[in-house]
Amino acid sequence: MTESSVEREKQPREAVTVWDWPVRIVHWLLVVLIATSWITSEVGGNAMTYHMWSGYTILTLVVFRIAWGWVGSRHARFTTFVRGPGEVMRYARSIMGAHPSSFLGHNPLGGWSVVLMLLSVTVQALTGLFANDDVVTEGPLASRVSGETSALLTTIHNYNFYVLLALIALHLTAIAFYLLVKRENLVVPMFTGRKYVERSAQAQEPMASLWRAAVVLLIVAGSVAAVVNSS
Ligand code: HEM
Ligand code: HEM
Repeated sequence: MTESSVEREKQPREAVTVWDWPVRIVHWLLVVLIATSWITSEVGGNAMTYHMWSGYTILTLVVFRIAWGWVGSRHARFTTFVRGPGEVMRYARSIMGAHPSSFLGHNPLGGWSVVLMLLSVTVQALTGLFANDDVVTEGPLASRVSGETSALLTTIHNYNFYVLLALIALHLTAIAFYLLVKRENLVVPMFTGRKYVERSAQAQEPMASLWRAAVVLLIVAGSVAAVVNSS
């Protein structure tokens, strides 16, 4: 152990809340519902009713999360974790370094994987609205477009799911890498919201109000319900 890392470990540490409630709840609901969407699509038949309900909920959650990326707490905001190519490259080069990263929120590489996952989930849920299985199940907006357009969006729905699975696999690999190689457990903070940092290193910032989250969620859920019922 180098002298500086000994010094580092001597520093008193304190808990800082990094992930607010909306970020954590949306995250774990997405995990459960994406699994539900996958299983129900495999089962087919009557399970497709649940597939569609799960999809509407996912659409609501992901649009909410994107909006929260502008009006949420500090570490939920895209401006705090979406970085330019220079910073991403610098981070990528330093990743094998001895010290755990000093990023409290998403690191510059992780930030882009978050953006790509949110985009892929959005594409999946939106194309689902126009999809049809040529038998009995069709999304609520499928009849609003031509047969060819619905077929094209169904194809995108089917293939984008593999893109989403690949991004999730990468996500889990990165988390395992952090745990096993860099000895940093990122999963516990996704449940508790808290990370332990050197005292004085990062001041606790206030979390965005849950009332604000409730208003944004109501607007988003109302809009999704209006779109789904507009057929
Ligand atoms: C359907 C599967 C999953 C999807 C779509 C997904 C998506 C995401 C997204 C979008 C974020 C960013 C959070 C935000 O800022 O709102 C995130 C972060 C995170 N996810 Fe997942 N996730 C999935 C599964 C998992 C699982 C199974 C675990 C635990 C083993 C996990 C652990 C984490 C952790 C620890 C972070 C925070 C990473 C960091 O510190 O930068 N995820 N995930
Ligand atoms: C993010 C949420 C969603 C996920 C992860 C998802 C995933 C999938 C998967 C994996 C399939 C099977 C593809 C195959 O058999 O090759 C599928 C099919 C389908 N999904 Fe989704 N879906 C989602 C949202 C939706 C929504 C919101 C709707 C409509 C309201 C929808 C409607 C359909 C239909 C109609 C099919 C049958 C397409 C076919 O047979 O080719 N999905 N979905």
